[in-house]
Amino acid sequence: MTCIAVVLAAGLGTRMKSRIPKVLHPILGDPALLWVLRSLPAEVDRALVVVHHGKERVVERLAAWSAAGILPCPVEAVDQVQALGTGHAVQACRPRLDDLGAVRVLILSGDVPLLPRMRIETLLKHPGALLSMDLEEPGGYGRVIQSADGWLVALTEAKDAPPEVLAIKRVNGGAYVLPWVPLREALAGLGRGNAQGEYYLTDAVAAAARHVPVQVVPCPPEELSGMNARADQAALDRMAQARINAAWMEEGVSFLDPTTAWIGPRVALARDVTVEPGVRAQGGCTVGEGTRLGQGCVLTDSSLGSDVELRPYSVLEGAEIGDGCIVGPFARVREGTRLEAGVHLGNFVETKKARLHPGAKANHLAYLGDCEVGEGSNVGAGVITCNYDGFHKHRTVIGRNVFIGSDTQLVAPLAIGDDTVIGAGSTITEDLPADSLALTRAPLTLKPGGASRLRARLRKRLG
Ligand code: UD1
Ligand code: MG
Repeated sequence: MTCIAVVLAAGLGTRMKSRIPKVLHPILGDPALLWVLRSLPAEVDRALVVVHHGKERVVERLAAWSAAGILPCPVEAVDQVQALGTGHAVQACRPRLDDLGAVRVLILSGDVPLLPRMRIETLLKHPGALLSMDLEEPGGYGRVIQSADGWLVALTEAKDAPPEVLAIKRVNGGAYVLPWVPLREALAGLGRGNAQGEYYLTDAVAAAARHVPVQVVPCPPEELSGMNARADQAALDRMAQARINAAWMEEGVSFLDPTTAWIGPRVALARDVTVEPGVRAQGGCTVGEGTRLGQGCVLTDSSLGSDVELRPYSVLEGAEIGDGCIVGPFARVREGTRLEAGVHLGNFVETKKARLHPGAKANHLAYLGDCEVGEGSNVGAGVITCNYDGFHKHRTVIGRNVFIGSDTQLVAPLAIGDDTVIGAGSTITEDLPADSLALTRAPLTLKPGGASRLRARLRKRLG
């Protein structure tokens, strides 16, 4: 039985006061629309995302998520062309729903990111149903009118409602499931003779309810919170944070201060991970058992093995960190870095497209780009791989058990043989064979007593 989700995402989001469409604003690093798509249950065969305002950006993101394999089902965009209301948005999907042989249609809003999958599963248990919430101050929400035995009879928008209907505290949450045949029929009969001059989806749902019973399924209001303004976004961030951190604590993760740590929805933490204050992990990250994420670290699309010590204020982006590594404080580990087991990267070390083999160390102030550092090699303080000539990037390959003295420049392309020792302050421009000792140094000029003579001369010049 083909079940198609329709996600309404054409709205402008005026109150966000933004250049980017509302549904692309992030909650814990993932755009609202991605949260919605990732919450779709397995029963959903395909999703149609209705786009209009900022559609190019939305379409581009959909393609990127799909290519990254992070969507639970195939997703395609449907252009609403003109945003004439929620009913019009679903009407725009009609040809695709027919082509796909839709039997059931699930309708969700792209700006309601925290509706849990299990709530959508509950909705899908009914042939026809909508989510409702009971609010002390129902404000601008559509009011739900039910029969004596609880079935849906009508939905009235606040702007169209007489006072006795406005007094109803049960409101429409904007998430529905309906069989396609009666919904299709009801959409065909929609008009826009209402306070907002829009085609209301709510009218179509109420019309369909005359042919198929529609259950009113209660839902906690926080799960249906929408993102309409920046303050809503901040509130959603806090809600998601509380939910995610509580779930990880259940799984054996320690938080030194769960109110300041941001763990994104696509981050997986193993047991005995400790998260210090102010950590932000976003995108797709995995963190192995016993690893400690130091205060203020920012991790994006990175994987860490077990028993890693990520010391405070380190920034990881597209990095792969092996078991037992020690990284930071203040390390910058960039895309394409791969640290194998037991590597040490110390303070103010930057790496990019660098592979460090087991036990290699770069403990202080270094730049390692487009390079490979062999097992057990030691990179001294201030060492730089000069990988860029202004036009091209070049590789540096360092063998095993190499010792590179402090403040050495390695001018790529370059290969350094195993067991070689490079003296401090050298500039290496040629390949070095294994077991060599290499140094490039200007001779020392030494003048005993010269300091006092120099000072006397300079003082005299002051007059
Ligand atoms: C809608 C419901 C209301 C419900 C509320 C819950 C209608 C008529 N009313 O009102 O009963 O209480 O949601 O949040 O449906 N959109 C489009 N194309 C359009 C217009 C809207 O895709 O032409 C999208 C919006 O981007 C948004 C969603 O549909 O994601 C809901 O639209 P919105 O304008 O927020 O509807 P509400 O007035 O809040
Ligand atoms: Mg709304």
